[in-house]
Amino acid sequence: MALSHASTPEQIPYSSQGLVVLGLESSCDDTAAAILRRYDDGRVEVLAEAVSGQNEDHAPYGGVVPEIAARAHTEKIDVLAKKVLRESGLSVRDLDGVAATAGPGLIGGVMAALMTAKGIAMGAGAPLIAVNHLEGHALSPRLTERLDFPYLLLLVSGGHTQLLIVEGVGQMTRLGSTIDDAAGEAFDKTAKVMGLGFPGGPAVERFAKTAQDPERFELPRMLARDKSCDFSFAGLKTAARRAWEAIEKPSDQDRADLAAAVQSAIARHLTERTRRAMEMFKARFPDEAQPRLVVAGGVAANAMVRASLKAEAEAQGFDWLAPPLKYCTDNAAMIALAGAEHLALGDVDGLDAPARARWPLDADAAKTAPASGSGRKGPKA
Ligand code: KG4
Ligand code: ZN
Repeated sequence: MALSHASTPEQIPYSSQGLVVLGLESSCDDTAAAILRRYDDGRVEVLAEAVSGQNEDHAPYGGVVPEIAARAHTEKIDVLAKKVLRESGLSVRDLDGVAATAGPGLIGGVMAALMTAKGIAMGAGAPLIAVNHLEGHALSPRLTERLDFPYLLLLVSGGHTQLLIVEGVGQMTRLGSTIDDAAGEAFDKTAKVMGLGFPGGPAVERFAKTAQDPERFELPRMLARDKSCDFSFAGLKTAARRAWEAIEKPSDQDRADLAAAVQSAIARHLTERTRRAMEMFKARFPDEAQPRLVVAGGVAANAMVRASLKAEAEAQGFDWLAPPLKYCTDNAAMIALAGAEHLALGDVDGLDAPARARWPLDADAAKTAPASGSGRKGPKA
């Protein structure tokens, strides 16, 4: 059920004024700020949001250049924080909490939002919430939907491809993840080889639309016999590069056909692995009358990926949900929401919370993959 978004606090038929949280995001190549109010019943009202992308800065390199990203974040994060405060008509004294992505991500970028958040939290006398970016994606559907736990989440972005059971705030179990590239990376790297432009995902999707014969390229079925929920995209990337290099003078039609072949191979792989995860979810929660599959992350913007997953979810008896596109890609509203949900549980951080390049979301991964920082909010074992 979609939530109604009342435009003024007077219209909201609840006595509680909820929690007002500023969220900041700068872990990859989008600088973003958002302010939202989260009511005690979980309802959310986004009061203001702003995002500044860096595609033009990175386009000449065909990928995100960490130094360029960090500099752009540092220049823009304060401006965006001020902008959302101004647009929401609030001052820092109205904030109940200040949330920032503290990892995982490009460390120079992560530091930009985290440092700014610390300064604002100090000035506001409000607690800091150091948010795991992946948890932001995991909770993002709750920005616009009344969505109860547990649900199955497929997180597909430029840096991550994971299947998780989300059982509560801070409670995630990983069913599978990529053993090499992320799905978004597979799009980006193939697009780079074919000279389609950056970011690769939207470029591949655009070219694929004009394909005449996507079947002419045979691309491998990744992990076809593997019984886990893991993903692998390296073989596909190599096969696509070989196919591309074998074409003597590539035309736009060649580009379109190969782009379409790559897109359907990625969509098929994501769907096959998610089918396994849905089976596991049903076995684990046999009493869940209406299980739910949520797809989040930048790759969820892809129409074919969405359609393929939706069809499979329906076949498996799952409700299918994806956040609106602006909340599928990196954004600060999801960070503010994750911050507000932790704050509502009294779960806040000290101003010494570290920026972390690595920060696995689930407890099992935490046992084998130590994070670079030592913050209390690290993976809870
Ligand atoms: O979630 P996101 O904005 O950033 C992180 O990686 O955290 O995801 C970005 C990724 C990029 O790899 C981009 O190529 C991919 O999402 N992407 C798409 C589409 N739009 C963005 N991939 C396929 N089709 C799209 N339409
Ligand atoms: Zn992301």
